[in-house]
Amino acid sequence: MVVGVPREIKDGENRVALTPAGASALTEAGHRVLLESGAGAASHFSDAEYAEQGAALVDAATVWRESELLCKVKEPLPAEFGYLRPGLTLFTYLHLASARELTLALVASGVCALAYETVQLPSGELPLLTPMSEVAGRIAVQAGMQYLMANQGGRGILLSGVPGVPPAEVVILGCGIVGINAATLAVGLGAQVTVFDINHARLKYLDDIMHGRCITIYSTRANIARAAAYADLVIGAVLVAGARAPVVMDAAMVAAMRPGSVIVDVAVDQGGCIATTRTTSLSEPVYREHGVIHYAVPNMPALVPRTSTFALTNATLPYVLAIAEHGLAGAAARWPELLAGLSTAHGRLTCQPVAEQYGLPWVAPQGQL
Ligand SMILES: NC(=O)c1ccc[n+]([C@@H]2O[C@H](COP(=O)([O-])OP(=O)(O)OC[C@H]3O[C@@H](n4cnc5c(N)ncnc54)[C@H](O)[C@@H]3O)[C@@H](O)[C@H]2O)c1
Repeated sequence: MVVGVPREIKDGENRVALTPAGASALTEAGHRVLLESGAGAASHFSDAEYAEQGAALVDAATVWRESELLCKVKEPLPAEFGYLRPGLTLFTYLHLASARELTLALVASGVCALAYETVQLPSGELPLLTPMSEVAGRIAVQAGMQYLMANQGGRGILLSGVPGVPPAEVVILGCGIVGINAATLAVGLGAQVTVFDINHARLKYLDDIMHGRCITIYSTRANIARAAAYADLVIGAVLVAGARAPVVMDAAMVAAMRPGSVIVDVAVDQGGCIATTRTTSLSEPVYREHGVIHYAVPNMPALVPRTSTFALTNATLPYVLAIAEHGLAGAAARWPELLAGLSTAHGRLTCQPVAEQYGLPWVAPQGQL
């Protein structure tokens, strides 16, 4: 199969969908790899490293035109919509529940689009979202810590406090992969951490591994409102797979936060779980509302592209190899979690939560390949 990897064009996006080692695995298995020249540069992989592994270095138009399976990191942007076509399998993060225009473009193009973030194992795990959630959860604490500083307009609070002065109050909404990684780092840095979720098993897991070093609270409107009033840093990490994120913190709760406190809404890629969240970018990451600094960057792992590229491709490569080997239908028959990731196929929308979000018709993914 011809497997293509273009350079990412989203603002500040420095990751690439394949490492040289991944290119090697594909070419050794007899597949052809087309990589846009320079695609790995921002992750500090040179063209020469890919060429040594048998990849052909070409321009973007050739990658899109000649690939049967096209692997990306972030969703296609309008400048790339013209490349979408029937016969192409697109494998990337899509986050369609916050991208209506893209949803319509994918359906109209006839492309088979697989969303990394909704590939789902029978256990409920999201194996291709997990590595980037681990990265984003940790960056959320680092970003929050930075914007709490006075030179960034923050309250001037040191996350750890010092002897005789209490640490910052970090409130984390959602106890999944992002939430647990954020909690672990924040506790390690000495913050006072409170984590909310509606899933008791997740809260119990965190409580068990943290040995009481952070507080877990069942997520209700009243409980979150109480915490918002004392939080220095709120991290939004709530997800309902495939769907728009539920808004768990309303504008009144944000207004009740103290001036100069910080919100990092990691769930912004699914629309955000805080009412005042608006998508920002890596080049302009923050804005202020109700006196509270909001950070809402949908591609935070791009800040550490080398770590993120390795972590992402560790997770995606087995599926890329499977699709290249068996075709999309054959791979999905063997690894059914891929079907859960199928968002559009041959002109049809195959993701129910996205269809419900926009009031569009949909069909179940089974039998569409
Ligand atoms: N901004 C970025 O760069 C970036 C990077 C990676 C992941 N993300 C996003 O972060 C979000 C979280 O991802 P994850 O991997 O941690 O998901 P996850 O499924 O592991 O965790 C989500 C948690 O939210 C909980 N939840 C659902 N409804 C809730 C409610 N009403 N109140 C409290 N908790 C609730 C779930 O029970 C679950 O534990 C997703 O939107 C994901 O796409 C963003």
